[in-house]
Amino acid sequence: MNTMLETEELLTLKQAAEFASEYTKKNVTTSNISYLINYGRIHKNEHHGAVFIAKQELINYYNSYYGNREIDWKSKLGQDLNWALSFEHLKEAETTKHVHRLHPYKGKFIPQLVAYFLDEQTDEFKTQVFFKKGDIVLDPFCGSGTTLVQASELGIHAIGVDISAFNSLISNVKVAQVDLTDLHCEIKKITQLLKTFVAHSAHIQFENELSYFLSEYDRKYFPSPEFKLKVRKKEIDEKTYAEFHEKVVLEKFNELLIKYNLKITQNTQERFLDKWYLQPVRDEIDFVFEQIKKVQNRLTKKVLTIILSRTLRSCRATTHADLATLLEPVSTTYYCAKHGKICKPLFSIVSWWERYCKDTLQRFAQFSTLRTSTFQYCLNGNSENIDLFSELEKKHPHFFQLAQQQKIKGIFSSPPYVGLIDYHEQHAYAYDLFGFERKDEQEIGAMSKKQTKQAQQAYAQGIANVLNNSKRFLADDYDIFLVANDKFNLYPQIAQIAEMQIVNQYKRPVLNRTEKDKGAYSEIIFHLKAI
Ligand SMILES: C[S@@+](CC[C@H](N)C(=O)[O-])C[C@H]1O[C@@H](n2cnc3c(N)ncnc32)[C@H](O)[C@@H]1O
Repeated sequence: MNTMLETEELLTLKQAAEFASEYTKKNVTTSNISYLINYGRIHKNEHHGAVFIAKQELINYYNSYYGNREIDWKSKLGQDLNWALSFEHLKEAETTKHVHRLHPYKGKFIPQLVAYFLDEQTDEFKTQVFFKKGDIVLDPFCGSGTTLVQASELGIHAIGVDISAFNSLISNVKVAQVDLTDLHCEIKKITQLLKTFVAHSAHIQFENELSYFLSEYDRKYFPSPEFKLKVRKKEIDEKTYAEFHEKVVLEKFNELLIKYNLKITQNTQERFLDKWYLQPVRDEIDFVFEQIKKVQNRLTKKVLTIILSRTLRSCRATTHADLATLLEPVSTTYYCAKHGKICKPLFSIVSWWERYCKDTLQRFAQFSTLRTSTFQYCLNGNSENIDLFSELEKKHPHFFQLAQQQKIKGIFSSPPYVGLIDYHEQHAYAYDLFGFERKDEQEIGAMSKKQTKQAQQAYAQGIANVLNNSKRFLADDYDIFLVANDKFNLYPQIAQIAEMQIVNQYKRPVLNRTEKDKGAYSEIIFHLKAI
């Protein structure tokens, strides 16, 4: 009886957050609860203008989600799944903390996983310390530099290598000792120039009028969260409804184009920058890039390049739903299934540019309190054959001296998977604008190389080549950790070719995948040593 009464209870947002925190043993905030309401997962009850949530609904939601997940995933992926390595208690803000979120990158591992293996803590799973302060760790598939950043936090030196010039740039910018005053100054200057550049542009007036119209229209015909709830309950046929309203809004859109006498698409469609950016956006990008070229301080210039690149990524003429996998350029208003309303592409970069400038400054400031005075550097090259030390000597002589003396203690890395991601192509916009050399054909396991038997063998040989090449620079008693989803069971063979032995395997669940598929998924951290 008591329980019945309890679960029929209505809770305020704050109470709901408190209850959910206790129930899930995780920190649930009021904005997490609002998110559930906005996405139609739970209902909101309004009373005298205040919002209430039924406790029972919260219980149902969390029961269906969390409690069963561990049991369900273990039954699918095996009982040896190490749930402690899921880091499920972490919020997104923690896995993307400070410089880790300076630029999007598909295929990152979470910093806490790196820290777990690099730090000096032990537990029932990790019973040994592998890296100590002052050691050197190598990441031959450095990507966006997660290992480098975490090594810096832990007082460990780190060498990275990546075949993609743009990835090496992201990594090096993340660990750079940036002069924040200079950066702030240049940001202010460029932003002011950009604002003057667009001040009297018809595009801005056009976009303002369109945005105003859209917000009114969406409020009326796509109210949130009611519209999504009705779609979920099948009270509205989303497709027919969306098509009808898309047409109505399009008429208004065309009317405004005529009113402001605008040309939206570019004349040619040859390059990535021609095809995926509307004309006014392209003009602003070119303008900012010209300003960045004039910046004196080389590091500041590199950081600004990363901010512009991040802006570019957000301003591609695509629907919100297709941001990760571009389908077709979009130059008009459209029904957005992700947000459940009519959305529009971007006609100006100003707001994203400003947002990312501010965000970058904050992230560097946060990291500056955590970094140690150790060396981290990412080389751009092919890990299958790069001469690590002589390349390091050219780029970072002090680090080279240290590395030559003490050698590298081990590797922590996540190699590419077989045929899953094209690492150059995911930043095609940056390669196009900044003119970095592309070395796609040297990427191991690129998506374009597919997953055929032949591709799998080439992959295995490629990874083994990297291990063999790296061995030349490692201390004798090295430890190698490779994070991999070994779908094709290639790692035993890789270890054999590299004349190494797999001494341990840590199987971890991957909970927060960026892909749309949120099903049970695990990866293995292989621990390899010399035979
Ligand atoms: C899974 S990602 C690494 C992601 C990284 N752990 C992070 O957190 O950002 C694999 C990386 O290997 C790089 N790569 C592929 N083939 C390579 C090669 N032959 N030499 C060096 N790097 C390579 C890709 O460019 C990609 O950035």
